[in-house]
Amino acid sequence: MTSTRHDGDSWDLASSVGTTATMAAAARAIASRADRSLIDDPFAEPLVRAVGVEVLTRLASGETEPGELVEQVWIDVAKVRTKFYDEFFLDAAGAGITQAVILASGLDSRAYRLAWPAGTVVYELDQPQVVDFKTRTLAELGAEPTAERRVAAADLREDWPAALRAAGFDPARPTAWSAEGLLGYLPPEAQDRLLDTITELSAPGSRVATESKPNPRPGDEERTQERLNRMSEQWQSHSFSPDMARLRYYGERNEAAPYLTGLGWALTGATIRELFAANDLTSLQDDDIRTGDMRYVSGTLG
Ligand SMILES: C[S@@+](CC[C@H](N)C(=O)[O-])C[C@H]1O[C@@H](n2cnc3c(N)ncnc32)[C@H](O)[C@@H]1O
Repeated sequence: MTSTRHDGDSWDLASSVGTTATMAAAARAIASRADRSLIDDPFAEPLVRAVGVEVLTRLASGETEPGELVEQVWIDVAKVRTKFYDEFFLDAAGAGITQAVILASGLDSRAYRLAWPAGTVVYELDQPQVVDFKTRTLAELGAEPTAERRVAAADLREDWPAALRAAGFDPARPTAWSAEGLLGYLPPEAQDRLLDTITELSAPGSRVATESKPNPRPGDEERTQERLNRMSEQWQSHSFSPDMARLRYYGERNEAAPYLTGLGWALTGATIRELFAANDLTSLQDDDIRTGDMRYVSGTLG
């Protein structure tokens, strides 16, 4: 299966993998408007608007009904996923962890909207144009971080720990790490390296949260690609060409949860199917691309 990706490629929020961050924020904006009990991200809409992809702005602002362009399941996944990572960070903070690292932070606004305890330092790491854009845009909007926010601009396939250390990261302190919506955009060996490196940089008691997707059965990836191509065609009729199927890396890879367990992390988790059931969400029906099997996992380093 082909991908447009290559080593060292980079992007802003309106191109290549960067568009996935803008789409994720658009989903949070739609989901926040629908039901603030699961997700309340007031920065999602203004951030999407500032990126300037017209159709995403119209969706994020409610001017275009999502039903015309996106499936409800996409919005509902944003709800359970945001809630999962919000709770992960708040639990870690409640347990006294004062250093958080949001890997592939995209347009995530947790550093501006969660009630972090005083003294918490939140690092955000993504491609240079992505982190710079968010810093600038939220400053222009007058938003104030709710923790001490530090940014690191780096490529997660390269020497990102150097950028994190340069921003002040202290590996001797327990850390709460998240890698949300990231792993499928890394080549398999880069995923393993990332999880190895997180572990190496984690003092005992550190926590991690990420997604763990079962390896594809025969035909699964073709179905995923067809579905993403159908979505991309719909976007194209609105002058937006994300070519979503070609942004990911395909093929076998180590599953994140067992891999992390092998590195010494004690994990728990829940599938999207279970989280939908727990939150009375019913949009997961024709599950031909196994969305429901994806697990959100979190845990502690022993
Ligand atoms: C689907 S978005 C998720 C963004 C954010 N975590 C969220 O959930 O809204 C994927 C993010 O991964 C980042 N990303 C993917 N590959 C990367 C790499 N090699 N280096 C740095 N960032 C990367 C992209 O820039 C993008 O912000």
